[in-house]
Amino acid sequence: MTCSSDSTKQISVIGGGYVGLVTAACLADLGHMVTLIDIDEEKIRAINAARSPVAESGLNELLAKNLGKNLIASSDYESVKRSYLSIICVNTPATQTGSADLSSIEAACLSLGHALRCNSGDHVVVTKSTVPPGTTESLIQPLVLRTSGRSDKNTIFLSNPEFLREGSAISDFMSPDRIIAGSNNDASSEIISWLYAGISAPVMFTSVKTAEMSKYVTNAFLATKISFSNEIGNVCKRLGIDVYEVMQCVGMDHRISPHFFNAGVGFGGACFPKDIRALISLAEESGETSRLLQAVMDINRTQPYRIVHQLENEFGGLAGKRIALLGLAFKAATDDIRESRAIPIIQAFLEKGAVLVGYDPLAMENMKKLFPEIDYVKSSSDALQGADACIVLTESPEFAALNGEFDQMNTRMIIEGRRILQTKEKQGICW
Ligand code: UGA
Repeated sequence: MTCSSDSTKQISVIGGGYVGLVTAACLADLGHMVTLIDIDEEKIRAINAARSPVAESGLNELLAKNLGKNLIASSDYESVKRSYLSIICVNTPATQTGSADLSSIEAACLSLGHALRCNSGDHVVVTKSTVPPGTTESLIQPLVLRTSGRSDKNTIFLSNPEFLREGSAISDFMSPDRIIAGSNNDASSEIISWLYAGISAPVMFTSVKTAEMSKYVTNAFLATKISFSNEIGNVCKRLGIDVYEVMQCVGMDHRISPHFFNAGVGFGGACFPKDIRALISLAEESGETSRLLQAVMDINRTQPYRIVHQLENEFGGLAGKRIALLGLAFKAATDDIRESRAIPIIQAFLEKGAVLVGYDPLAMENMKKLFPEIDYVKSSSDALQGADACIVLTESPEFAALNGEFDQMNTRMIIEGRRILQTKEKQGICW
């Protein structure tokens, strides 16, 4: 199978979630003809009106720039019949046991295979969803080939994991540290050059399984760095040492790197907890026990309660205490509350009878669905009025600027779960 550099070749991106949407918009911006497919018609209407269903900096602008030219969203798979390449970007959530739920992958492969029956040209199927090693070869490839009636002579399968962070996904896509391409087909180099023309990054060609595994291992290592910093931070706090200074010293060693060492309330989001649970489950299925990753998750589970205990010790009880919670999302600059560290903290405070006032620049509507009993207010300043304590849980820049606003508090008890505040009257969770 040959791959010419014909830039009119079309691309179908399957799955209009966070990864699919960013991938489709960025590929369109690079000059490709892209159709984004999602079964949710309401989502498709919003995307075609340049309204992203997820809050991501620059995404609405990118949609507006490319929609109607080389980008369109659709709720059917018609575009696959004309496409040269399809990218699977559907979600792979965790099952009850922690393993990856591949039902959306299966559904996407069936629809893709069905549409490919009417496509007699060469076709490339790219897996961008995070899937356990072996999934492309043992599930995606046979399912697509069987449903489409195609042969592996004119259908190439490639694993190309994504490393997009919410909040900086567009720049992560356009300026990646590396592109990983897992395939056993010689044409993969040409395909990757065509797909990512305009992006300058080293490309690592591997087996399909290696590419799939590299995604899990990257997330697991980053999460390990965070839990490591948090454990060291807990010790440093007892010893009167600043963990941030320690990690700065440590990170200057080129073998270590200074990134992802920010100690605090722990990691959340749709990816790290899910992927680490899936890797633990993979280890078990393979006959191994992942003691290190279990410890990473365990540290992350208990870390948020440190704030609750800190406050309980200060007040000798939390019943009736008015607590301002600033930052409800799993991190700053997103409305995503999945696995947010605010969730166990809110639960614990409510169980102890505290009165909670919440504020977040983007995530309040989402948190309201989970905890309608909390009072949600329009600004940090409103949250601080009459508060007995203030807890800061994201690195939102607007919290960094807070100063005189703390004068409105009943008691100046301020604990930060992320190192962001300038005020001197704060305590850190582990500094
Ligand atoms: C993460 C990875 O960083 C991406 O490379 C990957 O593509 C993505 O998951 C995914 O698998 O799709 P994301 O979940 O958007 O991206 O967020 P991160 O910026 O990585 O932060 C994750 C969590 O770790 C947040 O709760 C953040 O506050 C916390 N964190 C991060 C720390 O506690 N300390 C740090 O030093 C860095």
